[in-house]
Amino acid sequence: MEKEDLPLFAEWVNKPEVFGEYNPLHQMSKTEAEKMLENPSDLQPFIIEKKDKSKIGFIAHFHVLHFGTGTKQLEIGYTLVPSERGKGYGAEALEIMVDYLFLSRDIMRIQAQTDQRNIASQKVLEKAGFKKEGTLRKNFFMRGEWTDDYIYSILREEWKEPKILTKNPE
Ligand SMILES: CC(C)(COP(=O)(O)OP(=O)(O)OC[C@H]1O[C@@H](n2cnc3c(N)ncnc32)[C@H](O)[C@@H]1OP(=O)(O)O)[C@@H](O)C(=O)NCCC(=O)NCCS
Repeated sequence: MEKEDLPLFAEWVNKPEVFGEYNPLHQMSKTEAEKMLENPSDLQPFIIEKKDKSKIGFIAHFHVLHFGTGTKQLEIGYTLVPSERGKGYGAEALEIMVDYLFLSRDIMRIQAQTDQRNIASQKVLEKAGFKKEGTLRKNFFMRGEWTDDYIYSILREEWKEPKILTKNPE
């Protein structure tokens, strides 16, 4: 994501229909979006762009810190604009991000959390090789109620090798 993408990103975040019914409602000013991009320890968002250069959503990774051990787990989140869902872009973006993270970071696992009712998200995770680990009970406060979520992960040994990216790009 570049600075020029911030207005679009803030617009997406502020529109409940773009974030979808299974993401918490969130409001973000452009100033907050700028701060997020400037702070590399926070959310690292990537724009999902089609070959024709149209921008159709984002996929982001961020650290979940485990105090005491210093271990940093990487978590992924993603959203597409409603008109581009169900066309395979979500699964492709996720596979690219998993390839990229295992190729560029010395990490053992990547995790994701999703609402139990979010079938599309569970399908893309499973397609990309993630396994369901369990239920996080009353995990998020969303639209006035606490939701149960599934936690998924993929281990480096399960990923084995890049699916879309290559180790030695020409
Ligand atoms: C979740 C999301 C990124 C999935 O991306 P997508 O591009 O729509 O999904 P894909 O087209 O790659 O579909 C992957 C699989 O899920 C299935 N699927 C897609 N939408 C579905 C739906 N609404 N219900 C059931 N299955 C669905 C597809 O049929 C496909 O299965 P197949 O490979 O067996 O054919 C997208 O739907 C989205 O942005 N949703 C709103 C935001 C959101 O919920 N983000 C995730 C928060 S955890």
